Amino acid sequence: MSLQWHEFSNKEALDQQLALTIADELKQAIAQRGQAGLAVSGGRTPAGMFKALRNINLDWSRVIITLVDERWVQADHADSNERLTRENLLQDAAAAATFVSLVNQAATPHEALAEIEARLASLPKPIDVVVLGMGDDGHTASLFPNAPELEAACASTQLLAAVTPPVAPHQRITLTLPSIVCSRKVIVHITSDSKKALLLDAMATDVAISEQYPIRRVLDQVPQADVFWAA
Ligand code: 6PG
Repeated sequence: MSLQWHEFSNKEALDQQLALTIADELKQAIAQRGQAGLAVSGGRTPAGMFKALRNINLDWSRVIITLVDERWVQADHADSNERLTRENLLQDAAAAATFVSLVNQAATPHEALAEIEARLASLPKPIDVVVLGMGDDGHTASLFPNAPELEAACASTQLLAAVTPPVAPHQRITLTLPSIVCSRKVIVHITSDSKKALLLDAMATDVAISEQYPIRRVLDQVPQADVFWAA
C-alpha cells in the first residue's frame, strides 16, 4: 500500500472533507468497539477543520479526544493547543467532558509525564485516528529534526515523551513515534505549497537523509497514511 493523497483546490473544501473522513472513522470505531480515540495536532492549520468536525452529528460522549502534542503552557495561553481545540472543536459539552488535557501544574513536561500518561488510560489503544500537522522543517507532533530527544521519543515504549526542542519556543509534551504509528488511521493535514513540496521531497530522499525529517520517519512506518493537502 502507499500514501493516499487527497488534494483540494482550497482549504475550505479540504476542511469539510477531512472532517467527514475523521467523523466516519469515529462512527465506525464506536459501532465496532463502543468508543473511539482521537488525537489532534495544534498549530495554525486545523482550526477550520475543527469547526467543520464539531458540526457533524455523532455521539461525542463516546469519543475520547486528546492532543498529539502540547506546548508546556497553561491552557489559556495564546500558544496553547488545548485552547485552540477548546475554542474550535470542543463546543459540544460531551466532547469537552471527554477531552484529556496534556498539561498540568508541573514546572516541566518531564515532571508531568507519569500523571499525564495516567490520564490517558481512558484513551482507546491503539488510537483510532491521529491527525498530524507538519512544520516547515519536517517536524510532526513535537518530534523535531536534530533534537536530542527525537531518538528517545522514537524508541520510547511509552505513550508520551517530554521534549525541549532547541528550535521550538516552548518545552513540549508529545505522543511518541511508536504510539503514533500504531494508530488505526494516521492522517497528515497540510495547507501550503512549501509543505507539500517538503513532504514530497522528504518521501523521495533515501532513508538515511530522510532521518532528518520526522514526518518521513512516521510515514515510513505508516505507508497507508492519508495526506490531505491544499495549496
Ligand atoms: C504544534 C503542532 C505541530 C504542528 C506543526 C504545523 O504544536 O505546533 O503539533 O506539529 O502540527 O508545527 O503547525 P502549523 O499548522 O501552525 O503550520
